[in-house]
Amino acid sequence: MLKVDVGHFLAGAEEELKIYQEPFFRFQERLDSCAYPFTLSLEEGRKIPAMEAVAERLRSAYETFLVLGIGGSSLGIKALVQFLKGPYYNLAGSPRLLVLDNISPHLARQLTDLLDWRRTGLIYISKSGSTPETAANFIYFYQVYREAGGRPQDLVFICDPGDNGMNRIARELGAEVFHLPPPLPGRYSVLSPVGLFPAALLGISGEELLEGARRVHEVLTAKGPETNPLFLLGGGICYWSARGKNIHVLFNYETLLSEFGFWFMQLWAESLGKKLSLTGAEVRAGTTPLACVGTTDQHSLLQLFKEGPDDKIYGFVTIEEKPEVVLPSLFTTEKEYAYFGGRTLGEQLAVEQLATEISLVREGRPCYHVALHDVSPASLGALFYFFEALVVFVAECWQVNPFDQPGVEEGKQITYALMGRKDYEARRPQFEALVEE
Ligand code: PA5
Repeated sequence: MLKVDVGHFLAGAEEELKIYQEPFFRFQERLDSCAYPFTLSLEEGRKIPAMEAVAERLRSAYETFLVLGIGGSSLGIKALVQFLKGPYYNLAGSPRLLVLDNISPHLARQLTDLLDWRRTGLIYISKSGSTPETAANFIYFYQVYREAGGRPQDLVFICDPGDNGMNRIARELGAEVFHLPPPLPGRYSVLSPVGLFPAALLGISGEELLEGARRVHEVLTAKGPETNPLFLLGGGICYWSARGKNIHVLFNYETLLSEFGFWFMQLWAESLGKKLSLTGAEVRAGTTPLACVGTTDQHSLLQLFKEGPDDKIYGFVTIEEKPEVVLPSLFTTEKEYAYFGGRTLGEQLAVEQLATEISLVREGRPCYHVALHDVSPASLGALFYFFEALVVFVAECWQVNPFDQPGVEEGKQITYALMGRKDYEARRPQFEALVEE
């Protein structure tokens, strides 16, 4: 389902990884007893039948669904749809699924005009139930939906079960509601109703997604450090970051993984970029994630990767099983075209990935490789879970809390105050003074 190769990545550094064994054993013990919030996903399967029933009902009434969410409430959904349905799905797929994850007056106006609102359903996703961008989009599009005759009981709300405005509005409107477990942070929530409900709308098996995650969980809890892919990769990442590799490039060799790259960037950055105080000294933890797509970015970023500063590590993600697309023998008198005859696009993609990896390894750049078996919900579930676990293990090594996001929260609070939210009135002058400065 998922293979990790750290051969070149660790070359010569294996002994040095021993210092990460203690955090690894701590991590493994907590993983095994499902003590980390992200492991709560493994229990989300029991909600699937109810989600599938609602999805089936709504599919017969609507041809398009507009999902409103941001950050952890949108990136996983985009990754999931892109991987399993492809970037062109909405051209002919049914139902169509669109995700709006920004405040954009332009897009709001375009979507109002473009969509047939008598056949468009609304899915409102916000774990906290208060994120201002999503709340504003919901208010705006709810009005559009209502004016087109949309039924309140067909709205779907996904949030945590706390006492928040979103739950109260859902009750008042009689909307469908799915809850995610309160301790599960947004960026780890793709394998909860946040991702599983949109998956159900598109007929993607939530059970298979979770099965992939479960299988990775088993491997990671069973294997000792010498053979555990998570220890070897996570330890290697810490080893290199201690030697000045401050940028973590994830080179995804398949356009189907491009949105996964953005999901990874949020997970990595928001979980590991932390200010902390260790033995009295202020420490800034974290490395900068950068996702790119092969072969596309061979024609842009690769030049920098190869000849620019030696401050990066490189992860390659590839997919082993590919449809066979054979190139016909055409234009055979021209040397630039003749050699393609009978070769496949899959072969070419694999060759180009290998060429890129070899050229970086030759330059002494640390490269690791994650190979997914195929394009299936199980492989994607495995990939999500593996990277969630990787982030949490690295957090153990760096002694940071991977489940909070004080930097993000502060931005939300300033927005609440400046936009005039009542319970932030007292803090408004303080933030207005900052604006003046
Ligand atoms: O991971 C996180 O906690 C954040 O990125 C949130 O997902 C993001 O801020 C959106 O929050 P919410 O789902 O509460 O609207």
